[in-house]
Amino acid sequence: MPLEKLIINQFRNISSANLTFNNKINLIVGPNGSGKTSLLEAIYFLGLGRSFRTRLSNRVVNYEQNEFTLYSEINNHDVTIPIGLQKSRSGESILKINGALSNKLANLTQYLPLQLITPESYTLLSGSPKNRRAFIDWGVFYHDPQFYLNWARIKRLLKQRNAALKQCNAYKELQLWDNELCFLSETISKQRQDYFNLLMPLVNETITEFLPEFSISSSFFCGWDKKNKPLQEYLADNYLRDKQLGYTTAGPQKADIKFKVNGLPIADVLSRGQLKLFVYALRLAQGLFLNSFNDKKCIFLIDDFSSELDQTKQQILAKHITNSDAQLFVTVIDKNNISTLFEQERTVFHVEHGKITVE
Ligand SMILES: Nc1ncnc2c1ncn2[C@@H]1O[C@H](COP(=O)(O)OP(=O)(O)OP(=O)(O)O)[C@@H](O)[C@H]1O
Ligand SMILES: [Mg+2]
Repeated sequence: MPLEKLIINQFRNISSANLTFNNKINLIVGPNGSGKTSLLEAIYFLGLGRSFRTRLSNRVVNYEQNEFTLYSEINNHDVTIPIGLQKSRSGESILKINGALSNKLANLTQYLPLQLITPESYTLLSGSPKNRRAFIDWGVFYHDPQFYLNWARIKRLLKQRNAALKQCNAYKELQLWDNELCFLSETISKQRQDYFNLLMPLVNETITEFLPEFSISSSFFCGWDKKNKPLQEYLADNYLRDKQLGYTTAGPQKADIKFKVNGLPIADVLSRGQLKLFVYALRLAQGLFLNSFNDKKCIFLIDDFSSELDQTKQQILAKHITNSDAQLFVTVIDKNNISTLFEQERTVFHVEHGKITVE
């Protein structure tokens, strides 16, 4: 499902742009502060209904305006799907998909699966488990249609359970929540584990290509130690501690992926550039895995391609990406640095002070 067309109005410093994209490589070139990341951010907004740089929509509306508007056309097997989104400074949204008003921004995720890689992407490995849960859940969401409903239900149950924790006088008062919680927790943990088992061989293949010098192991932690005892027992045993903390300390809301090199956490061993390559391996494998079974094709947004990577690694990476047949949006400050790496079917966009022109 390539993104074919994008019209931007009043989004950050891009006051107006009307762009037709290449189905393969789109190189976005321009000096610091010109609007390259803002262009990726606009595409991301259409994919997920939010920014990757801020939670506040008024930050992305152009300083002098009250709202931004994005209009895109996505190609789905030669049928055009138009999507329009307007968001005001105060946060109100109007979303139209295929000509019909849509009341939930979350509906956008069905149309434009995206993988984003930025200079900050190493935080997927060095940051909190929340980042890694978001990573795995992205994949399970597209892989298993039941996952989203189960997860939304668990989130609601946990909210209710945590509120009840603070008020109850004995564990048995919580059992009503816990029966359903345990059942659903087992279900989504299995969905995550199954997806993880399918994805990791592809990740490992890519890592061997990007970081052949390391032997990296990975394991999925479901949020409690299954081998030790069932979740129901953790919930009962942790009752007093959870009550004191005011939240539930065991369950799928604590899931994580552990990556290790020589038995040590990966973020303590690899350099920044190596961590970034590892994140590339994860995200590329995940996006390409999706493309192998889903007719909604994942698009890759890569911000500041050359940062922290030497020439050899850039070459390996570019070759891997361009062989993938996915649609790419790659930003770079100096085109000369990567011109020979992305030579195939491509369109080059020049960005200067928020104005975007095609080469
Ligand atoms: N709401 C806004 N309205 C107008 N301009 C904004 C807004 N928010 C940020 N800017 C400005 O938009 C410009 C473009 O920022 P952007 O991050 O897209 O640049 P960039 O080309 O990615 O730069 P770099 O190469 O340094 O990453 C910056 O000068 C920034 O100060
Ligand atoms: Mg930038």
